[in-house]
Amino acid sequence: MPAFPSTLPTPRTPPSMDAPPLRWGVLGTGWIAERFVASVQRHTRQRFTAVASRATGRAKGFAERHGIPAAYGSYEDLVAASDVDVVYVATEHTAHLVCARLALEAGKHTLVEKPLALDASEAAQIVELASARGLFCAEALWTFFLPKFDVVRQILESGVLGDIHTVLAEYGEHFTAEHRILRPESAGGPLLDLGTYPLSLATWVLGAPAEILALGQPHPAGVNGQTAAVLRDADGNQAVVHTTLFSDTPTSATLAGTRATLTLPGPFYQPGDLTLTPSGGGTTLTYTEPRTAHEALHHEAAEVARCVAAGQLETPLRPLADSLTTLRAMDEIRRVAGIRFGPGEAVLE
Ligand SMILES: NC(=O)c1ccc[n+]([C@@H]2O[C@H](COP(=O)([O-])OP(=O)(O)OC[C@H]3O[C@@H](n4cnc5c(N)ncnc54)[C@H](OP(=O)(O)O)[C@@H]3O)[C@@H](O)[C@H]2O)c1
Repeated sequence: MPAFPSTLPTPRTPPSMDAPPLRWGVLGTGWIAERFVASVQRHTRQRFTAVASRATGRAKGFAERHGIPAAYGSYEDLVAASDVDVVYVATEHTAHLVCARLALEAGKHTLVEKPLALDASEAAQIVELASARGLFCAEALWTFFLPKFDVVRQILESGVLGDIHTVLAEYGEHFTAEHRILRPESAGGPLLDLGTYPLSLATWVLGAPAEILALGQPHPAGVNGQTAAVLRDADGNQAVVHTTLFSDTPTSATLAGTRATLTLPGPFYQPGDLTLTPSGGGTTLTYTEPRTAHEALHHEAAEVARCVAAGQLETPLRPLADSLTTLRAMDEIRRVAGIRFGPGEAVLE
């Protein structure tokens, strides 16, 4: 067992400005697309050559706001463009599979917003298609690309926590009635939007669960309102995960080992602090970084560019197998808690 360290590791994340420039196309013009493009333009040398929307006017407006030369009124037209190397799928969950398929079948490397798809079976189709075509593919789970998470990664690799018996992670955010998270046809409810973060952390640390217990509470809008789950690994180690769209909660996470405890104050999935405290007391070590929120989305784009330039088909920071593990756990939570998506099918009109 390693001794408790005197300092924390420093992030190994390369400067995003150094990543080789790729030509990007964006599918969808919603909330995350705006923030992703703004962050990537400010912090990298990546170029956005095209954006597409189901409505030409929305694509044009987005292109004007961000100085993007081509605006398409159809996703099909964008994926066919010869000046696009990588497609960023920024559509709502129900359209991830259909958009990822469009991009990969057109021969484009693909970064798909989280979660990779609605469920593990859809995600497996994306993974198989990317592999069959020899194209890069990743889930844009930005947390795993942040410098803070490289510190977490090194702490976990060092073994300084001892045996990790307990993971606690939660994410709650209050949403008003007009948000798509309250729409059954958009696969609403907190699990896919918010629960992705605590669940991906729990399954990253403990691996694929051997057993899951879960309880849900419905929201009057017809979607799941909140869900609590307990995950157990093959050795009996436990993760307790909670997500709600009724309320704002601390959105913190704790990785508790026999020798030390790693604490990620809320919002744990964004840039910010972490602390490492030895079991039984002693000096707490603190890592700090500016709480820049979605301004830090550029790290995932830079990693995609580095991987594509190096000929890698996926990133070790968020392997596709991990995306599948998270979605399998999500599927099981829904099965146990009796949560069903609404009637939504993947549609593009
Ligand atoms: N990384 C993060 O921090 C973060 C934060 C928020 C969301 N996300 C993820 O990003 C994805 C999009 O979320 P968002 O908040 O940006 O959603 P949003 O604002 O509702 O935008 C979603 C976009 O999806 C497109 N779309 C394609 N097919 C659609 C359909 N059948 N119905 C409705 N829209 C459709 C629309 O683009 P057009 O109308 O232009 O075609 C729409 O603007 C989600 O998967 C979510 O999990 C990630």
